Amino acid sequence: MSEFKTLEWIDESSTLRLLDQRQLPLVEAYLDCRRLADVAEAIRTLAVRGAPAIGVAAAYGVVVGVSERLRAGDKVGRRELEEISKELASTRPTAVNLFWALERMSAVWEKGTAENYDGAGLRRLLLAEARRIEAEDEDAHRRLGRLGAELVPDGARILTHCNAGALACAAYGTALGVVRAAHAAGKKISVLADETRPLLQGGRLTAWELSRDKIPVTLICDNMAAHCMARGLVDLVIVGADRIAANGDVANKIGTYGVALAARAHNLPFYVAAPTSTLDFSLADGTGIPIEERSPREVRSFGGQLTAPADIPVYNPAFDVTPASLVTAIITEKGIFPPSRLKEIYPA
Ligand code: MRU
Repeated sequence: MSEFKTLEWIDESSTLRLLDQRQLPLVEAYLDCRRLADVAEAIRTLAVRGAPAIGVAAAYGVVVGVSERLRAGDKVGRRELEEISKELASTRPTAVNLFWALERMSAVWEKGTAENYDGAGLRRLLLAEARRIEAEDEDAHRRLGRLGAELVPDGARILTHCNAGALACAAYGTALGVVRAAHAAGKKISVLADETRPLLQGGRLTAWELSRDKIPVTLICDNMAAHCMARGLVDLVIVGADRIAANGDVANKIGTYGVALAARAHNLPFYVAAPTSTLDFSLADGTGIPIEERSPREVRSFGGQLTAPADIPVYNPAFDVTPASLVTAIITEKGIFPPSRLKEIYPA
């Protein structure tokens, strides 16, 4: 198993340490966030990314924000907590894990306030909740990995898009959690990793993460996926998710929808692996999922180098929505559900 830590809490200095994913795979550097603004910037610029990791980082981000204010001798009341939460919530709109984690942190704050905890006491409660969110995240992914591995035949060639691995979570991974569990079970699997334009999470992160763990991985450009399917080089697709609506529509990294269409055309199973913290039952279907649009610079250039005319208009949605009708099943820590049966895990 990989030795890197996607994120780590350092309590003596109230610091959230992040593996800076913007620099991978060339440089393995850690980024120490001691101020709320550092955490918000890290999420916004994808130093930490992937829906579950964003949720965990935001939970610790609340502790960073509260600690920062306490250090400065400021009071931290409900209004201040709301400000901290708002700054973190403004970083990225699509991954629902961000808002889910912030809601959990607010609920802990409310309870602690009602029980008359002082500032330091509330900080302790918030830190305990952030640690719980982190531990639950890893636990959920190990569980869904084990469940999902049952769907993977020995010798399977699995296509994945973006990075839904340990780098995208507290640890282990969702789509790559299933891959890891199948590999650990002794199945001779291999992965085809889509490069994932424009920010290359597949090329920079999935290829790095899997090759470190000695899981066979071959990198392809996004526009090669359908060709590989037509050539019989793919047995199934597994991707992660940023938000799943009640009917099973799935928002994930831009390009996922195209992969799902190609999978359907070639009669291949298309699985989505995600913890239940990625389900958004407040949305009946995917039309209400907010789609993040990012800077044109990400499409016009790479690594600071222009790859298109400097003033060319650009459309840069970071996510798309795959309709439930193209999803074979959603693999969660609570079981494997075809979209039509997701309602079985609706909260009471
Ligand atoms: O923009 P990113 O890198 O945060 O997008 C990540 C994805 O789309 C992942 O597939 C998704 O968050 C699932 S991660 C387990």
